[in-house]
Amino acid sequence: MSTRRIYLDHSATTPLDERVFQAMQPYFSEIYGNPSSVHQFGQEAEAAIEQARQDIATIFHCQPQEIIFTSGGSESDNLAIRGAAFAARQNHKGNHIVTQALEHSAVGRTFKQLEEVFGFEVSYVPIDKEGRVTPYALRSVMRDDTVLVSIMYANNEIGTINPITELAAVAHEYGAIFHTDAVQAAGQLDLNVSHLGIDLMSISGHKFYGPKGIGALYVRHDTPIIPIQTGGSHEFGLRSGTHNVPSIVGMAKALQFAYQEREKHIEHYQLLRDRLIDGILNTIEDVRLTGSRTERLPSHASFVFKHIDANNMLMALDAKGIAASSGSACKTGNPEPSGVILALGYDLEWAMGSLRLSVGRQTTLEDIDYTLEILPQVVTVGRKLWTPIA
Ligand SMILES: Cc1ncc(COP(=O)(O)O)c(C=O)c1O
Repeated sequence: MSTRRIYLDHSATTPLDERVFQAMQPYFSEIYGNPSSVHQFGQEAEAAIEQARQDIATIFHCQPQEIIFTSGGSESDNLAIRGAAFAARQNHKGNHIVTQALEHSAVGRTFKQLEEVFGFEVSYVPIDKEGRVTPYALRSVMRDDTVLVSIMYANNEIGTINPITELAAVAHEYGAIFHTDAVQAAGQLDLNVSHLGIDLMSISGHKFYGPKGIGALYVRHDTPIIPIQTGGSHEFGLRSGTHNVPSIVGMAKALQFAYQEREKHIEHYQLLRDRLIDGILNTIEDVRLTGSRTERLPSHASFVFKHIDANNMLMALDAKGIAASSGSACKTGNPEPSGVILALGYDLEWAMGSLRLSVGRQTTLEDIDYTLEILPQVVTVGRKLWTPIA
């Protein structure tokens, strides 16, 4: 085991910013009232929530009442998609909903459930070889009865950024609502909702140095959507449940810091990311960059390696102190390829060996150079262990 600890899994989660931690602390102790209570204890907590809502709205360029607090990216996706689909049904609009194969499971499985349990008709937009959804491809599946389109802003596994403004415009031509999962984009890409022209947008606190278990959904003011969690009518009736005050405060602070300091961080990420990509492509054989070289998240590098089981690779890297991740899952010792990599057209000889390396604020050039030294050794050993697929 190595004594080094290099964290290259910032797309999975980021550490909490120390300044955010400080800002959250009073809401665990002194300021403990229930924000729904009329007394001063409650109103102090309520004021903090409304300030957080205002701060996020400033970054989104929207009205504060268009921000709904949720328990994270998954819940925001569920509320957006199921809420909009159910509202369309209630209003006797169409029954056709659209997404694509590379979505996070919070979107993908919600669409599956809407299809299998609730009888919606789902179409999947074809993707290009870099995993991008083009406006042309979206247009090819749109119909007059399409009520909802959900396409992610940036992909978690391959980092590809989609042309959201153009895609939203196509959806609107057909009178459909447009949702984007911006969970990976938040903290790095433009979140101005009037530039993007979207109706619904999901974010999650823990991807931009905020706390885990907190998220938000932007709901454009005239968007027909009904709650999926009913109860005491919190959050303008769209999401019931007593507010997680410290985390709401923390998420808003984290987003503010991320956008105040964005240029500096993006420059740092891109330098490290490009060094990783060039170093890996130049020194290792039979490796491909997955996703786009240019239209990709600044912090994100992802690859497929031929004839290697990614789970072996992850364990070997971990033993050398490098934390990375893969889209391939190891379920009870039975490795499975990444669905995203398969959808991009790679066969099993490649799809078992996907690797994601995502850099962050604390990552250094030395961390990258150490990774570039270790990875070729890990790949060489891993390939010796490869058993051909029958
Ligand atoms: C693209 C995307 N959507 C949704 C989620 C789920 O977010 P959360 O972990 O906050 O539920 C993730 C988390 O990895 C993600 O990457």
